[in-house]
Amino acid sequence: TKGAAMVTAVASRVQAQRKQIDKVLALFQLTREQLDGVQHKMRAELEYGLKRKTHALATVKMLPTYVCGMPDGTEKGKFLALDLGGTNFRVLLVKIRSGRKSVRMYNKIFAIPLEIMQGTGEELFDHIVQCIADFLDYMGLKGAQLPLGFTFSFPCRQTSIDRGTLVGWTKGFKATDCEGEDVVDMLREAIKRRNEFDLDIVAVVNDTVGTMMTCGYEDPNCEIGLIAGTGSNVCYMEEMRNIELVEGDEGKMCINTEWGGFGDNDCIDDIRTQYDKEVDEGSLNPGKQRYEKMTSGMYLGEIVRQILIDLTKQGLLFRGQISERLRTRGIFETKFLSQIESDRLALLQVRRILQQLGLDSTCEDSIVVKEVCGAVSRRAAQLCGAGLAAIVEKRREDQGLEHLKITVGVDGTLYKLHPHFSRVLQETVKELAPRCDVGFMLSEDGSGKGAALITAVAKRLQQPRKE
Ligand code: GLC
Repeated sequence: TKGAAMVTAVASRVQAQRKQIDKVLALFQLTREQLDGVQHKMRAELEYGLKRKTHALATVKMLPTYVCGMPDGTEKGKFLALDLGGTNFRVLLVKIRSGRKSVRMYNKIFAIPLEIMQGTGEELFDHIVQCIADFLDYMGLKGAQLPLGFTFSFPCRQTSIDRGTLVGWTKGFKATDCEGEDVVDMLREAIKRRNEFDLDIVAVVNDTVGTMMTCGYEDPNCEIGLIAGTGSNVCYMEEMRNIELVEGDEGKMCINTEWGGFGDNDCIDDIRTQYDKEVDEGSLNPGKQRYEKMTSGMYLGEIVRQILIDLTKQGLLFRGQISERLRTRGIFETKFLSQIESDRLALLQVRRILQQLGLDSTCEDSIVVKEVCGAVSRRAAQLCGAGLAAIVEKRREDQGLEHLKITVGVDGTLYKLHPHFSRVLQETVKELAPRCDVGFMLSEDGSGKGAALITAVAKRLQQPRKE
């Protein structure tokens, strides 16, 4: 009959649509072989970055940090810390007491308006100093001469613990006249311009390093720091003899890998999708930080948005209508992705979240959106896991061990807020590095506390205690 024919026609259209959607999702499902490939290529890039001959061209920059040891528990004092480059800009006062190893912190969050992130370097640093002044005022500390640790979460070429030249901005920053400049000098000059107080800037620290230090304060096995947040990066303790850029062969030094740049030489183009390319092209730094753009909070929502636009164009979503909202960059923040992917959430609530974002969805739409988010975040966690597997395997081999037990200190909104990211990441490391027993330790405010600890250690080394 006619009715039955219509039902079959609808059913086969639904089936055809499902096929089209699955085809897109399949692009994000990595095989074991592909993950092995990522691990091995990452391993090769780590070695290029460490070697003098290949360093200049390496996409994983492997920057020496001049942090050579962990805190030993004798650190103490009051420190200021700045934290620039994560979700928020903060100024902190950190009080460390030795013996009981207790750390107390007071902090204030300040907004950095977009026009300052992307204005001139002078404006940016003047703004930072303005925030410090506010904080000192607020804490009643004006005129106090405290040592300061500056967590600056961008790639810096360091020649000592208190000098660091910005290699290039990443994430959402693009202030002019900073690349190639020493960030500590820029901060000092801004303090001078204001001419209101003086600060003793002792250390410039990457957030990964602060995170590793904070966890290392409690667990001496912690020799890796991972950030899976707005950006993605790892640091780890490397044998001095392998670091060809720094004199000396004894002991270890922490290396800031800046692995976000992995793939900038096209070496993972086999797994990059058209959506990854669109996200890259629409970003502030096209062609750069390609691995970061597949694995970190600032970009995952953008990948999702690109896929949703494509599915809508194909008539598979939102009744084929691309709304103004869907065209808007940055609407899917990590916290929305995390909510959408929460298992406890009923589909109706997914629709409500989409509604909040300004997207009108049917029940079917919300199922597809959730699947898209799942595919993108799962791939991110697996890629990140493959990278981490490369690092722990390198450490195991370098130490000639059959088995390695190691702890990774972790921070970042993606790792902490997302309902599945951390689990998938851990499972992947286990699969790809079966001879390593990798523990994960959440860092409580690594960027602030870690900067203070490093500052404390540096201070102690500056002024050796008299016995
Ligand atoms: C970006 C920065 C890196 C930082 C990471 C996490 O990748 O280049 O320095 O550690 O984001 O914040």
